[in-house]
Amino acid sequence: MRKIFVACDTSSIPKAKTVIRGTNLKIKNYKIGYKFGLEFFYSAGGRNFISKLKRIPVFLDLKINDIPNTATAALKSLRDLKNINYITVHINGGYEMIKCVKKEAKKINKNIKILGVSVLTSLSPRAFKAIGYKKTIKDTVKLHAKLARKAKLDGIICSAHEVKYLKKICKGMEIITPGIRLSGDKIQDQKRVTTPLMAFKNGANAIVIGRSITIGNPKLNMQKLINSLS
Ligand code: C5P
Repeated sequence: MRKIFVACDTSSIPKAKTVIRGTNLKIKNYKIGYKFGLEFFYSAGGRNFISKLKRIPVFLDLKINDIPNTATAALKSLRDLKNINYITVHINGGYEMIKCVKKEAKKINKNIKILGVSVLTSLSPRAFKAIGYKKTIKDTVKLHAKLARKAKLDGIICSAHEVKYLKKICKGMEIITPGIRLSGDKIQDQKRVTTPLMAFKNGANAIVIGRSITIGNPKLNMQKLINSLS
């Protein structure tokens, strides 16, 4: 079953509710889930709202990236969020840290899936070089995928441009791609972008899509997305 995660990037609980109500449709062969990132989690009431969600896949995108001790402690503070299905960690934080996050996350609930974030979809090759990376984005994502596999993470997050290079390395893992735009929509700060159809064709198991759905009428936008897949 392919998955579509709608990024609820807002600090408003009513807005999040509107997005969920408008997009939580039953679609053959697809499952819809909701991603909450730092904006919503940090907002007043955001954490509490997330903790009460039932019967929908919940993806908590905190992109943990710190020293192993701090990362472990951060995960410990999430133990009450038993309903979380996915959590993210930056692979950039190193093997030791991602192993610690994996171990601690399983104490939140044993079915939680830990996803390694590789190179952000907002980075262009030039911006990537400017941070100091000598390898290409493609080779870095491949290296990240190997680390994620070694740490037994459940999946990797990268752009749909890199998916075809990961199928072998990430066999049995989920490959999730943000940087998704409905045809004709502005790409805004994203750089390595595809349409939903292209991401799935490239081999993604799941996509993350935010503003193409949440700006304007989420219900109509979701219908447009679904139509674009057939
Ligand atoms: O609005 P848009 O579709 O660009 O939102 C993409 C979402 O995916 C955001 O919540 C962003 O934090 C997240 N994300 C991303 N690139 C990654 C990992 C996560 O855009 N590599």
